[in-house]
Amino acid sequence: MELAELRQIAEHERRQRKPVSIRCCAAAGCVSSGSLAVKQAFDREIAAQGLTDQVQACSVGCLRLCCAGPLVQVDPSQVLYEEVKPEQAASIVASLLPASSEGKERSCSAQRGDPHRPFFTKQMPIVLENSGIVEPERIESYIAAGGYQALNHAIGDLSPAEVIDTVTRSGLRGRGGAGFPTGVKWGLVAKMPGASKYVVCNADEGDPGAFMDRSVLESDPHRVLEGMAIAAYAVGAAQGFIYVRGEYPLAIHRLEVAIKQAKKLGLSGAGIFDSPLNFRVDLRIGAGAFVCGEETALIESIEGKRGMPQVRPPYPAEKGLWDCPTLINNVETFANIPPIINRGADWFAGIGTAKSKGTKVFALAGKIRYTGLIEVPMGMPLRTIVEDLGGGAPNGGAIKAVQTGGPSGGCIPASLLDTPVDYESLQALGSIMGSGGMIVMDQTTNMVEVAKFFMEFCMDESCGKCIPCRAGTVQMYRLLSRIAAGDASQAEVSQLEALCDMVKHTSLCGLGQSAPNPVVSTLRYFRQEYDQLLKKSRVALPLR
Ligand SMILES: Cc1cc2nc3c(=O)[nH]c(=O)nc-3n(C[C@H](O)[C@H](O)[C@H](O)COP(=O)(O)O)c2cc1C
Ligand code: SF4
Repeated sequence: MELAELRQIAEHERRQRKPVSIRCCAAAGCVSSGSLAVKQAFDREIAAQGLTDQVQACSVGCLRLCCAGPLVQVDPSQVLYEEVKPEQAASIVASLLPASSEGKERSCSAQRGDPHRPFFTKQMPIVLENSGIVEPERIESYIAAGGYQALNHAIGDLSPAEVIDTVTRSGLRGRGGAGFPTGVKWGLVAKMPGASKYVVCNADEGDPGAFMDRSVLESDPHRVLEGMAIAAYAVGAAQGFIYVRGEYPLAIHRLEVAIKQAKKLGLSGAGIFDSPLNFRVDLRIGAGAFVCGEETALIESIEGKRGMPQVRPPYPAEKGLWDCPTLINNVETFANIPPIINRGADWFAGIGTAKSKGTKVFALAGKIRYTGLIEVPMGMPLRTIVEDLGGGAPNGGAIKAVQTGGPSGGCIPASLLDTPVDYESLQALGSIMGSGGMIVMDQTTNMVEVAKFFMEFCMDESCGKCIPCRAGTVQMYRLLSRIAAGDASQAEVSQLEALCDMVKHTSLCGLGQSAPNPVVSTLRYFRQEYDQLLKKSRVALPLR
C-alpha cells in the first residue's frame, strides 16, 4: 500500500456515492431502538421507488442525539429525522424526490429534528468528526474521509522523535481520567531500552453512565487503530492490544472487522505502507470488572491473571506487559492522534484552555432534555453544556447538580455551573474530568442516595487486595445506608468523614483513593440534605 493507492481508494469511493445518502445511525443506542430494521426498510423503499441510481442508505456511527433514536440524517440536505420507524421509510424516500409539478411539497410522516439546535451547533467534533458520517464497517469509507493519511505522513515524513514532539506540543492529555500529558508518556516509552514494547488501548470504560469510548469504537474504529499505529511507530512497538469490555459486543465486532480490513490493505501487520513498521493489533475482551480499567490491573488481565492493581512505580511505561515497556492510552486519546498529525500541534494547542487543550467527549445523561454524545472545546462552561446543549432539566425543572468523573468524581452544585470544564477547574471543585461521564441531576434527586449509589458501586467493584478499600467501602456504604434511612447520628457522619480521609490516603489504587469523592463532594455542597436525615434533627426543638 502506498499513498497513491490510498488516494485511489478514496477517489473510487467518492465516485460510487449516490447524489443522496440516507445515513442511518447504527451505533448501540439506535440499534437498541430498532435502527437496523429502519435501514432495511430504506433499502427496500429505495428499490421499490426505483431510486437506486440516485439514493443510497448507509449504516453510520453515532449521530449523537441518543435520546431521539433511531436517528436518520439525509445528505446533502442535512435534514435530521428522529424516532424513525420502518413504516416511515416510504414517505421519507418519497419526500427526497423533487416536488410535484403543482409545486406542492411532498408530505413526510417522520418527525423532523432540528440540526441547528445548540445541541449540535455548540459542539466541536474532532474525535467525533467522522461519527455519523463514515460507515464503520467499511475501511473505504474511512479512507475517503482522509483516513490513514496521518499514519502515512507520520511514517513517511516524520521521525519517531518528531511524532512525539508534535504530540507533546499539541498539549494533548490522556482522556482516560488522570490527564497525564500524552507526549511525555510516549517519550518515556520510546526512551526505554528493550526489543519488545507494547501499545495498549484502554477500552474498558466502566463508569456508570459513560458510553463515549464505546461510541467512538462503534462509530470510527479505524481512527483508533490509526492512532495506535502512529503511537507504535513513535515508541517502537510491534504489538498492540485493545482491551475492551465484553459488554460491548458491537464495538468488539466492529473492531474485529476493522482489524481484518486494515490487515488486508497492508495498514496493519508487517511492512505498513511498505515501510519497516510492523505492528499488529489483537483484541482482549474484559469481563466487566471496573478495576480492570486501572492500567496495572489491565496488564495483569491481558497476561491472563486475575485483574488486580499493582504497586506503582514501576509504571507500565517502564515495566508493563510481560515486564516490557508498555504505552497505555485511552480510546479517545488515540482517536485524537490522527487529526493532530494531519493538522499540526499548533492547531490543536489553539483549542481549549491554557492547560487543557483540545476538546472533550462527554456522555450527557440523566435529568436533562437532550441526552447523547457531545464533544465540546475544553473550557466551555458547564452551564452552556447543560442548559444550551442539553436543553436544561426536562419539563422546565431546575438543575440541582452535575456529576462528572463517575465513581471517582464528584457532584457540582448548580450554583457553580459557570465553571469552565477543564482538568484543573473540576478538580478545584472536588470533582474530576474523568473519562467523560456527565450525569445531570434535578431537584428530585436525593444527594445522599447519589453518594450511596456510587459507594455501593465501589464496594462491589473493589478487588479486595488492600484493606482500606476492601473494608472501608463496606463501612462507608453501611454508614450512608443508615444516614439515608434516617437512622444515623451526627457522630456517624463524622465517622464517615474520617473514613473518607483514611480510604483516600491509604488505598493502593485509584479506585479506593477516589471512592470517597462522591461522598466528600455531596457533604461539601449538600450537607443540609445529610443534616435533615440525622436522628437529632428529628428531635423536637426545645421551647424558648
Ligand atoms: C479504577 C480505575 C478504572 C479505570 N478505568 C479506565 C477506563 O475504563 N478507561 C481508561 O482509559 N482509563 C481508565 N483508568 C485510568 C487508567 O489507569 C490509565 O490512567 C489510562 O488508561 C491511561 O490512558 P490516558 O493517559 O490516555 O488517559 C482507570 C483508573 C482506575 C483507577
Ligand atoms: S484500592 Fe481497592 S480496588 Fe484498588 S487495589 Fe486496593 S482493594 Fe483493590
